[in-house]
Amino acid sequence: MAEKKLDGIKGCVFDAYGTLFDFNSAVAHCREVPKEKADRLSGIWREKQLQYTWLRSLMGRHEDFWQVTGDALDYAMKSLGIDDRVLRERLMNLYKTLELFPEALGALERLKSGGLRAAILSNGTPQMLQSAVEGAGIAPLLDAVLSVEDAGIYKPHPSVYRLATDRLSLRAEQICFVSSNAWDAHGASAFGLRVVWCNRYGQGREILPGAPDAEVAGLAEIPAILGIG
Ligand code: LAC
Repeated sequence: MAEKKLDGIKGCVFDAYGTLFDFNSAVAHCREVPKEKADRLSGIWREKQLQYTWLRSLMGRHEDFWQVTGDALDYAMKSLGIDDRVLRERLMNLYKTLELFPEALGALERLKSGGLRAAILSNGTPQMLQSAVEGAGIAPLLDAVLSVEDAGIYKPHPSVYRLATDRLSLRAEQICFVSSNAWDAHGASAFGLRVVWCNRYGQGREILPGAPDAEVAGLAEIPAILGIG
């Protein structure tokens, strides 16, 4: 349910993992994961992956998202008593080609036909993002795929969101940033971007600097918010 329309937007910039690509699809597609541990494995993996990005940024000890994703998977597997190197490699490989959320393709196509620019701005490495974008067949719908590697620090550091304004040559208020991660939505808003929080997981509002301009349940609502519905 859209709260309001955003005017004057020239480009829409999407978070990748959890917003366009379903990070749960790696574990879901891996039959070798014990069924009773699947949900917890995926949950701990994601939770640790994000924590490690924040912690490494605070520590000034950046490693790229592929490394951090592997470290988080190691933690998650160990915490559930799963010791299987083949399974680990399989899950990491599946992470390269995560499923696109079902409504994402239609939303990206509508943005393109509506004359808006579209991009990704993600913690992912350029290689990870390229695999995901090519696997999902959405490369022709994107004007740019931006990685935090060019900033050398993770979201929500302001220098990451600055990549969007710099690379798209747009002012912050001309960019609509879309993320399912509430903390990412607040980070982008605090930097000055306009923000739509895609609240897929029905989470409560964060109490952090910045605030989403609008909240939706899925990406299908984005074109209407941008006045091209
Ligand atoms: C990303 C993480 C935050 O794609 O989901 O940047």
